[in-house]
Amino acid sequence: MLVKKIAILFSGTGSNLENLLEKLHQKEFDGFRIEVVLTLCNKPGALGIEKSRKFGIEPVLLDHTKFPDREAFDRRLVQEIQNSGAELCVLAGFMRFLTPYFTQNIKAINLHPSLLPLFKGGHAIEESYASAMKVGGISVHYVSEELDGGEIIAQKCFEKKADMSLESFENCIHQLEHDLLPEVIVDILSKK
Ligand code: GRF
Repeated sequence: MLVKKIAILFSGTGSNLENLLEKLHQKEFDGFRIEVVLTLCNKPGALGIEKSRKFGIEPVLLDHTKFPDREAFDRRLVQEIQNSGAELCVLAGFMRFLTPYFTQNIKAINLHPSLLPLFKGGHAIEESYASAMKVGGISVHYVSEELDGGEIIAQKCFEKKADMSLESFENCIHQLEHDLLPEVIVDILSKK
């Protein structure tokens, strides 16, 4: 059976990492099997590290503070991804600005917790919660040189209820993320 290899990059809790490992790793789809060949984290102590280990995958830890500059970090990152043989790289809560060296060498998608192009950046959940919008949502997009600015692949939204707490708003976001991201990955790999 044809094997399609992916890499997953994360920085924190890793709920999306865990969800992808559960739904995709070593699972068969129409004519191919997906293998997560690399998980990689830039933050020592991130909760996602243990989640990856649960699936028997020891994450590569690349602490960005140990590199002289962004490009040096990205060069190493690109090397790790290329060495893994992954044909698609998934950023699942990977909190790094990426340089053109990365974007020119790696085909990657990113998960963002807002309806892009609204609320780019690291405070998307708080900003969309506080906004006048009647919906919240998420986007999956290709990674480009512009932060959260690459081509949008898929989006999902939910109704923001009048009395909704930030916590339940956030839970709705994560639920949608856990549904949409694996679907998009399977779809991209099916078309290749
Ligand atoms: C997600 O909300 C994702 O959209 C954002 O970072 C968060 C990661 O959550 N980029 P987790 O680490 O997967 O739980």
